[in-house]
Amino acid sequence: MNDKPKLGLGGHSFIEALGNDPVASFEEQCSIVAACLDNGIDVIDTTYYQERVALGKVLKQLGRRNEAHIQAWNFFQQLGKENDLVGPTTYEAHHIDVMLEELGTNYIDTLVIHTHDDEVKLNMELELASRWIAEGTIKRAALGMLRLKDLGYVKSDSPISCVLAPYNAFRRDAEDTFRKAKTMGLEVIAMSPFVRGWKLDEIGEDKLKAADILLRWAAHSELVDLVIVSMRKSEWVATNLDTLQRGALSREEADQLESWVQRLGKD
Ligand SMILES: NC(=O)c1ccc[n+]([C@@H]2O[C@H](COP(=O)([O-])OP(=O)(O)OC[C@H]3O[C@@H](n4cnc5c(N)ncnc54)[C@H](OP(=O)(O)O)[C@@H]3O)[C@@H](O)[C@H]2O)c1
Repeated sequence: MNDKPKLGLGGHSFIEALGNDPVASFEEQCSIVAACLDNGIDVIDTTYYQERVALGKVLKQLGRRNEAHIQAWNFFQQLGKENDLVGPTTYEAHHIDVMLEELGTNYIDTLVIHTHDDEVKLNMELELASRWIAEGTIKRAALGMLRLKDLGYVKSDSPISCVLAPYNAFRRDAEDTFRKAKTMGLEVIAMSPFVRGWKLDEIGEDKLKAADILLRWAAHSELVDLVIVSMRKSEWVATNLDTLQRGALSREEADQLESWVQRLGKD
């Protein structure tokens, strides 16, 4: 039985966009990561390249790279768009060195391949991932933004052992996909329990209570092995850990959540 919290730290914690609060200072980023590692939250996701650079600096400052399980996606810096959040790029052979350099490490624990519809290119990315696993530069590979049809890529010789998708009370379209993935023995990671925090504002009630209910809905789902949350304040780490301790939703809380979903509609 794994007694680690079902919580991972999202990389949007390290950037200003896509969240509720202003960007955390470097000192605050170090406190957030230290609070996570101290409490068994070792999976740290990095989506955009800016997040890899930020996490690399934090882990170097803390001297705790080996305690972290780094997850990294194929979003890369593009010329002339250094300050932008640019979309995913198909992995090519040179990308692993770029990512390792940005993270200041010599291996990535989970390399995430953002799924797409180009079968030839996706198969090439899977081959690259297998090669990088054999070389030891990545420990395992995952498919991100997974859709049901993407599970067709997970064959016996596939490097994929984990899948990720946004999954929260307002966005449940990944449910069937996650159910199938579990039957295939894949680790399932749900992202965005608070819909970037924006849903907490839209609900318009006690934010802490809303966050508590939304996180417990996702984390206590039998389909979910880990929930990735971005936190720009170190105190959210203790708050969210306390939330997980409270267990599954009561009937009353579940009814309250459904009333929010009915009022605001599903995403
Ligand atoms: N959503 C996607 O499509 C997607 C895609 C790829 C990867 N990811 C990964 O998933 C991670 C999480 O997703 P997300 O950032 O979209 O959304 P999220 O984790 O649902 O929401 C993050 C927001 O929730 C707030 N928050 C955290 N704990 C809270 C609490 N206890 N009470 C009140 N507010 C709280 C944070 O506020 P502060 O700003 O105050 O900290 C932050 O603004 C990302 O960082 C990324 O690593 C997501």
